[in-house]
Amino acid sequence: MPTRCDQTAPWPLLAAHFDAQGRSLDMRQAFAQDAQRFAHFSQQAPHVFADLSKNLWGRETEALLLDLARACGVEQHRDAMLAGEAINTTENRAVLHTLLRRPIGVALPGDVPETAQRLADVHHTQGAMLQYAEQVRNDAAITDVVNIGIGGSDLGPHMAVRALEEFRTPGKRFHFVSNVDGHELHHVLKGLRPESTLFLVASKTFTTAETMTNARSALAWFDAQGGRDVARHFAALTTNVEAAAALGITTTFGFWDWVGGRYSLWSAIGLPIAIAIGAQGFRDFLAGAHAMDEHFRTAPLAQNLPVRLGLLDVWYRNFHGFTSRCIAPYHAALGRYSAYLQQLEMESNGKRVAQGGSTLACVTSPVLWGEPGTNGQHAFFQMLHQGADVLPLEIVAVRQASHPLPGHQQKLLANALAQTQALMVGKTSDDGHRHFPGNRPSTLMLLDSLTPTSLGALIALQEHRVFVSGSLWGINSFDQWGVELGKVLAKDLEARLESGDVAGLDGSTAGLLARLRSVEGCGG
Ligand code: F6P
Repeated sequence: MPTRCDQTAPWPLLAAHFDAQGRSLDMRQAFAQDAQRFAHFSQQAPHVFADLSKNLWGRETEALLLDLARACGVEQHRDAMLAGEAINTTENRAVLHTLLRRPIGVALPGDVPETAQRLADVHHTQGAMLQYAEQVRNDAAITDVVNIGIGGSDLGPHMAVRALEEFRTPGKRFHFVSNVDGHELHHVLKGLRPESTLFLVASKTFTTAETMTNARSALAWFDAQGGRDVARHFAALTTNVEAAAALGITTTFGFWDWVGGRYSLWSAIGLPIAIAIGAQGFRDFLAGAHAMDEHFRTAPLAQNLPVRLGLLDVWYRNFHGFTSRCIAPYHAALGRYSAYLQQLEMESNGKRVAQGGSTLACVTSPVLWGEPGTNGQHAFFQMLHQGADVLPLEIVAVRQASHPLPGHQQKLLANALAQTQALMVGKTSDDGHRHFPGNRPSTLMLLDSLTPTSLGALIALQEHRVFVSGSLWGINSFDQWGVELGKVLAKDLEARLESGDVAGLDGSTAGLLARLRSVEGCGG
């Protein structure tokens, strides 16, 4: 179990350093004083180059943060995760999504027979899933693939299928239905025919209310439209094969409880990705992630990109007090990237209790939000440049375009660069409205091109960075108890909406429930 950062010796040293220098650091002066600042604070990790130099820290800050990582036992915690120890303590589970991207024939670090057996199971299941993906790709009669799933069973595959649209097989459309709002499924079904549709019901638990409701409605639609052969047109991606069979879905691809929902796109949950980009493309995706895993496992802390990012996150959240991070991918295909990262980071680290159960003395996950650039520039970047709050910006840019249109890429890249430059450099004016304070932080991640391999590496980088900040805070990044209460209350309220029973409800909920049931409705 990692040691909470606020209970280590470097913590008060960092606080003193923040008061003495950190709070007043001016990046423009820091660059003027240190010709090597860019070289020092940027690095090439597998498939991802990152520039961390336009951030509010210096070498001394980083050295203290590295001491903090050592004092918290981040390396030991990482090794425990990779070795398959049950570091998800509240659910007594191992956390082994890294095993899913371990290539065949690459020896495991350490000698853990149980992990070796798990790896053999992974490769066996992966083989069957990729074979099925190829079969679907070659099946010209299937024109539409509908993924029914929510949270980790939607966000990762949805983000990746969209990001890799240039690598997609022609002749297939992909749809993602997640919301229990029937509007979404109804709208998708309107354009489909049962004989040309494959439904993938994706749910780790196969109990999630939204997914079960949508799956039942899809099955009912299939039947009502005269669809035949459920085994051909429905497949379940789940650890709960029995529940899928009970629903009548017998084509199944399994995975294991040691794969967290928001880390599951590498498992059978990634089937839509494999159908979209093919077995080799999916293997490339896994290989990119594995390269980042190896970097995380072996690079010294000072040159370990996920570690440096996680340390910077803690520095910003706990010392600068920054409440959010804006995510702006400068590639239109990364349109679901911010939504994906929201679950990854906020469901992992949005907690205030340490692994041992004690209440933390410090704040944890920031709010993540954002939209692709350059669109964001014409919406919320005003606040980044001149707002009263300082909000760190994180850009992903891609050097090579994935389209042939002349003139666009230079403009796109120039804009990405201009934003980070403007945020830091600022612009002095006597007119307050036209004054840019500058010294505002940003990180730029650069991919050479957006491919299955580079996307895999980028996502693994983000996973490990969240692991690092979670370790420093001493929390369990792999459970999500905070989503449970709302689920229970929704079930109760669903019955009350039917019966009208408001006994025991608070005044507001009772009033709203009565209004929802009233014959006059809610208008006028
Ligand atoms: O929202 C909670 C959650 O459990 C997520 O962690 C998970 O990704 C999502 O629901 C979907 O769960 P399942 O894959 O079991 O349907």
